[in-house]
Amino acid sequence: MQAMQTARLQTRMDAVQAPIVAVVGDLIRQVPGTISLGQGVVHFGPPPAALDSAREALTNADTHTYQDGAGNPELIGAIEHKLQRDNGIDVARGSRVIVTAGGNMAFQHAILAITSPGDEVILPVPFYFNHEMAIQIAGCTPVRVPTDERYQLDVDAIKAAVTPRTRAIVTVSPNNPTGAVYPEASLRAISRLCQERGVYHISDEVYEYFTYGETRHVSPGSFEGAHAYTISMFSLSKAYGFAGWRIGYMAYPEALEPAIAKVQDTILVCPTVIAQVAAVAAMEAGPAYCRRHLQSLAEIRDVVAAELRSLEPLCVVPPADGAFYCYIRVNADVDPMTIAERLIREHRVAVIPGTAFGTTGGCYFRVAYGALQKETVAEGIGRLVGGLRSLLA
Ligand SMILES: Cc1ncc(COP(=O)(O)O)c(C=O)c1O
Repeated sequence: MQAMQTARLQTRMDAVQAPIVAVVGDLIRQVPGTISLGQGVVHFGPPPAALDSAREALTNADTHTYQDGAGNPELIGAIEHKLQRDNGIDVARGSRVIVTAGGNMAFQHAILAITSPGDEVILPVPFYFNHEMAIQIAGCTPVRVPTDERYQLDVDAIKAAVTPRTRAIVTVSPNNPTGAVYPEASLRAISRLCQERGVYHISDEVYEYFTYGETRHVSPGSFEGAHAYTISMFSLSKAYGFAGWRIGYMAYPEALEPAIAKVQDTILVCPTVIAQVAAVAAMEAGPAYCRRHLQSLAEIRDVVAAELRSLEPLCVVPPADGAFYCYIRVNADVDPMTIAERLIREHRVAVIPGTAFGTTGGCYFRVAYGALQKETVAEGIGRLVGGLRSLLA
């Protein structure tokens, strides 16, 4: 016991990266006045009707007790309706819906339900860091497959990475951290590959409504026959300014129901009841609520893209047609974490280094612009551009 108090135990967590947003957050706190282009959050809050519903729910005794593990029937019904309307996913074909405490939990649940320790899950790089972390926490191996220079899927490379231990291929579209949106043809190719090789397609669609211009989001779970092997995940965090309420959900093949029920019962028991009540009202406001804010995001995106392009050829800025991120490549042989730290300390602007997203060869940064008003973004991007110029000169 004495030894346990002094020596740190070696555990599976040693292989898992530290949460980068918290690491960068600590640095930001040390430098007051830093503008954060770090965390992936939106600048708007929940629809007012959601807050009214939550207030009313306080007086209902049911709010304060355990409820159905998969989620309240009213919310499940609203989700099923939305999946049909917005995603072309008809759960009656053989899917189940579960509500989780955010999209991250949906992903962890899915990984625990479909793998055994030592299994492999394919992640196109750059990936969303919590996906890699969830796979490692489950004792599995994330298999990194590079994307192309526009951060689009390399279907042949993914095909070549499938082994007998592969359990799933993960796609995130619109993408965090790159903002790339995958065309239907790529998603169909991945879906076919999953079907042929008998692996799951995990499709993270938490940015489904965040597309710009002519770009459209496609849900792989809507493809003919794909319901049998596709796990489609969504979240209210971004679309409804709901990040603190922790409501996400997934549609998954019904054969997985016993496994998913075990994970949910052990980790969450049931989703927070008051947050579910608020979620029903938010979903009644519908995607129009998010689209109302998209116009201002699109304007901010234009400012960000124009400013960052002024850094070319020092930086490469591939197109980003979705989410609220840009993923820039710096043409210099420098350590991204060192530069990220100096940007905060010397230029009072924060971005996330690409090492957190699995891009280890080269210097990359994710720039997130969803949380700020136009003027603050312009100031923040100005600091970033000036800072990179001076640090890389
Ligand atoms: C791709 C992706 N998936 C899932 C999530 C998780 O969101 P939440 O757990 O708040 O629903 C995020 C959040 O940034 C994300 O970027």
